[in-house]
Amino acid sequence: MCGIIGINSSKPVSSTIINSLKKLEYRGYDSAGIATLSKGEINEIKSEGRVDNLEKNSLVQSMEGTIGIGHVRWATHGLPNSINAHPHSSQNVSVVHNGIIENSTLLKKFLVGKGHKFKSQTDTEVIVHLITENLKTENVVNSVKKTLKALHGSFALGIIFKDEPNLIVGARRGSPLAVGYGPNENYLGSDSYALKSMTNKITYLNDGEFCIVKKDHVEFFDEEGTKVNKKVLELSSEENKYDKGDYKHFMAKEIEEQPTTLKNGINEYIDKTNNDINIYNLPWKKDEISSVTLIGCGTAYHSCLMAKYWFEHLTSLDVNVDIASEFRYRKNRFKKETLYVFVSQSGETADTYAALDLCNKNRMKTCSVVNVIESSIARDSKFVLPIHCGTEIGVASTKAFLGQILILYILALKLGLLRDDISKNLFVKKLKDLTKLPDLVKKTLMTDNKIQSISSTFNDAKGSMFLGRGFSFPIALEGALKLKELSYIHAEGYPAGEMKHGPLALIEEGMPVVVLAPRDDYYKKTISNMQEVIARGAKVLLITNKSKDEIFSENIWETIEVETTNEDLLPFLLTIPLQKLAYYSALKKGYDIDKPRNLAKSVTVE
Ligand code: M6R
Repeated sequence: MCGIIGINSSKPVSSTIINSLKKLEYRGYDSAGIATLSKGEINEIKSEGRVDNLEKNSLVQSMEGTIGIGHVRWATHGLPNSINAHPHSSQNVSVVHNGIIENSTLLKKFLVGKGHKFKSQTDTEVIVHLITENLKTENVVNSVKKTLKALHGSFALGIIFKDEPNLIVGARRGSPLAVGYGPNENYLGSDSYALKSMTNKITYLNDGEFCIVKKDHVEFFDEEGTKVNKKVLELSSEENKYDKGDYKHFMAKEIEEQPTTLKNGINEYIDKTNNDINIYNLPWKKDEISSVTLIGCGTAYHSCLMAKYWFEHLTSLDVNVDIASEFRYRKNRFKKETLYVFVSQSGETADTYAALDLCNKNRMKTCSVVNVIESSIARDSKFVLPIHCGTEIGVASTKAFLGQILILYILALKLGLLRDDISKNLFVKKLKDLTKLPDLVKKTLMTDNKIQSISSTFNDAKGSMFLGRGFSFPIALEGALKLKELSYIHAEGYPAGEMKHGPLALIEEGMPVVVLAPRDDYYKKTISNMQEVIARGAKVLLITNKSKDEIFSENIWETIEVETTNEDLLPFLLTIPLQKLAYYSALKKGYDIDKPRNLAKSVTVE
């Protein structure tokens, strides 16, 4: 997490750094800071909270300097206050850092022994003092090289030096870092978002590399300090996608955009002329894949769980699902017939990237389902399936979730057809149903008013539960995650059939429980489980799909009916009321919907 920007220019840089930091806030918003070099001194200004607070500081307005670095923080070591905010500086060096230095305690002990005085509780400050110490005997390049060798853990760094007013040093291990090229100025950024408003010419550093950014050219080095040549990539720039239009929040906009984003995805992947899915370029033959392992974090993990049901339903492949932070440290039995699928909106999630890296190192078949096609995960996967849903700004993932499950569904269908696990007729029928999905999502989005009033009950409760079986179970997990993430209400997602094995003890008079019971193969079983919670006093919000069949159950508190489609696609529709429930609960509580407390959009620390 955290965001880095560095600018080396011939014009003053402070206001451009502030603007770039605003774009980077999705990576962290606990505190922000800036340091520039002017009149032979390092000037550093930091503040707690959002970049707005930093911008309001009158000293920032008058800050001089044509070279500088900036940072937005998501706290790992030390409280989120202005002292722990980055940059961290000594008299000679100023550093911004993403990642975690695992041996910081040991290094600090060594540096304190040498007389260095520490101001913050962060791990980052050891980097500042280590470079300062090494500068006593080494030149800039060697002092950085020596420092990087001593660090354990992950980092992306931006460094300026009091005595080197013409350069910024960038370095990367684990956390991503990019260089951007402008007219008479060059940049450093933790990702291309921050740089896109200034340039579309980018170079990504590989693990272990460092660079020297001067205003007229940039030099790259490997860990040993040997110069390396790097490619300059040209990115597409779409500035208007950051606009929230007439919506109060990006999340509201992103929820409403879903019919369009699904349509885009469908148009990209469905070959209407041939009644096929145009994944024609899979780099492996169908007989080379006998199982699929799906890996992700948070909402992306829920997408993987959802896909497991579809892969099992539509193919004869063995399917495993894993949370990336668990997978990366497990004693995995890598199998060459397994397709490893990495799901990530940002494509920068550290745990997911590490899991991918591990698979690549073991020469596995790797495929990613990502939103950001320039991301590290996309770049390093052997095959990429973009979800085409446009930039997602709200920290709570909404349209990217539907985008991910859409592409995973499409992949399951395609592999099912390729392996003759489903007939061409059934395949074509399912494609036809899929093309109708965006309109059904649009209609389901209209159930607004009811959800607004229902959300108050959730806000007043101590906690809530979300229950579903089969295809609806991953959606129950996702609904609970959305509510806790946005409204800070305790919410548990559970398989409805599992309640009697313990969680039923939590049910008490008036507790709101969401039951997802669409008319699929699990319907009757889920309705029985619903009656068990109603009998114990739960206030049940039943979410089902429209049907002419009556619901035989008494004492249901509220019912929401989504549109009707085939059972594979009902999860898309069930998701909509859950996204809105979370949105309206947070809105009523007055919370910061696009930037919930303690979170960040892109989780680039493990
Ligand atoms: O960018 P990614 O999809 O890899 O992110 C994974 C999770 O951090 C993310 O889905 C998170 O759980 C969302 N904030 C949930 O809304």
